Amino acid sequence: MRALAVFPDEKRVAIIDRPAPPAPGPGEALLRVLDVGVCGTDKEIASFDYGTVPSGEDHLVIGHECVAQVEAVGPGVTDLAAGDLVVPMVRFPCDDPDCRPCRAGEQDYCRTGGFRERGIRGVHGFMTELVLDRADRLHPVPAALRPWAVLTEPLSIAEKALQQIGDVQDRLPWDPPSELHAVVLGAGPIGLLGAIALRLRGYRVWVYSLEPVDDPRAQLTRDIGAQYVCAREHDLAALDRLVRPLDVVYEATGVPAVAFGLLPYLDPNGVFVFTGVPGMKPPSELDLATIMRTIVLNNQALLGTVNAGREAYTLAIQDLEAAEARWPGLLDRLVTGRHDLADHARLLRWDAPGIKNVIRMAEARS
Ligand code: BGC
Ligand code: ZN
Repeated sequence: MRALAVFPDEKRVAIIDRPAPPAPGPGEALLRVLDVGVCGTDKEIASFDYGTVPSGEDHLVIGHECVAQVEAVGPGVTDLAAGDLVVPMVRFPCDDPDCRPCRAGEQDYCRTGGFRERGIRGVHGFMTELVLDRADRLHPVPAALRPWAVLTEPLSIAEKALQQIGDVQDRLPWDPPSELHAVVLGAGPIGLLGAIALRLRGYRVWVYSLEPVDDPRAQLTRDIGAQYVCAREHDLAALDRLVRPLDVVYEATGVPAVAFGLLPYLDPNGVFVFTGVPGMKPPSELDLATIMRTIVLNNQALLGTVNAGREAYTLAIQDLEAAEARWPGLLDRLVTGRHDLADHARLLRWDAPGIKNVIRMAEARS
């Protein structure tokens, strides 16, 4: 069975041959992988800057954004059947009996750091032909979503962020205005999917990113009724003049200078959510007194968010359906390339063209 693996000690990425998994045991399902998305995390792992091999092994099979088809189910699995389309979750809970989030099935909030993540940390991922998983970690997807269901996992990241923005805004003892203003920093997949989810919830949205205004990402932004602001033409002060009031910032660049540069423009009671993970850089100077003063005197909330729980996956699947109904053809423009596994080297380069590149492992069987 073919699989794409990273060997960190040898600094090697290669297609390898692995034994197929056994038949599914009680509560398990055997999955045939259909599509796997390539994201920045995969590129970091393939550059040997991130990722952990499973204990006792010398390699990690990568891939965490997956849509698969159920091949067979084990004893006791009644809510899934062969042929169903599913999206598996990325994170496995830690083993600590005292980790309340993991014990409650909310491993995206794991407290111990002992969690594992498919294709990222300590457990093999989906860039292979067949995988075994627990049926209760699988999210069924309607057949009509087949071409874009691979966007479920990255969209789940945005959904979790938006859930938290909603929870934080609920602290305000009055109804929010009908149209809150949100800036999305960065027009990568997480940024654009966040913009889609924000638009579906009625936000006015501005996407701020480096691409020129005639880039497909800018066009896509405009087609969902959001505005695109090119960071090469407008500095952050100019962005603020366009947006005011700035109620919500959804950060998806991982560039601290941009994120903290926009923070002073956040309006009173505003929420700033960080989703981008910056690479390790030398320390930089920040006017911490001004930042702290602004946050305190304006009742602002800053929060970081990673991974996604069950509900966020469900919301992601619903929002993919809603997005396709509202803007037909839009999701297809996000999935800019479908490739063979053999193209991996090109797709894992930082300068790979396109928005979301997908590796096609198999066709769905009817
Ligand atoms: C994945 C998340 C994961 C995070 C950190 C992201 O690319 O989508 O599921 O938690 O990386 O490893
Ligand atoms: Zn990812």
